[in-house]
Amino acid sequence: MKHTLYIIISIFFLSFNISTYTNDSYIKQTPLSESIERGAIVYNDFCIQCHLGKGEGLKDTFPPLAKSDWLSKDRFKEAIKVVKYGQKGLITVNGKNYNGVMANLELYDDEVADVMNYIMNNWGNTQKEMITEAMVKEIQP
Ligand code: HEC
Repeated sequence: MKHTLYIIISIFFLSFNISTYTNDSYIKQTPLSESIERGAIVYNDFCIQCHLGKGEGLKDTFPPLAKSDWLSKDRFKEAIKVVKYGQKGLITVNGKNYNGVMANLELYDDEVADVMNYIMNNWGNTQKEMITEAMVKEIQP
């Protein structure tokens, strides 16, 4: 008897947990949040070695992405161009000059969009306007 009661209580808690979990993820997942999730994978594969784990960059060598003025609303098209085609020569990020090389990483347009959404919504950056694959496709060198 005691045993059965124990099983019933366990099932109750188990199903309670499962249903709250699915509810939560159902509410939280939006096209933007899904893109950000995929973008995290792209970031960890292609960007983290230079821009580092918190987007802080490396003094005088790799510019920061955290709170970068390039990722603000009026400049994000230029930032898409950097991520899509690479960038070399003088660049000013948050008032500080860098003069290095970021190679063209040969990402697909959807990967550029995902990683942009990730970096624009992390480390204190917020940009609720979602970057789409179509927007990336429009950006020319
Ligand atoms: C090999 C190192 C390296 C890798 C890998 C790299 N970057 Fe960069 N990134 C740089 C450098 C260096 C610059 C500045 C180039 C210059 O001085 O003209 C830069 C500039 C930028 C900028 C514009 C300036 C800023 O800080 O906002 C963005 C945005 C950016 N990178 C995003 C990315 C993303 C996203 C990835 C991965 C998809 C990536 N980078 C991978 C080195 C790198």
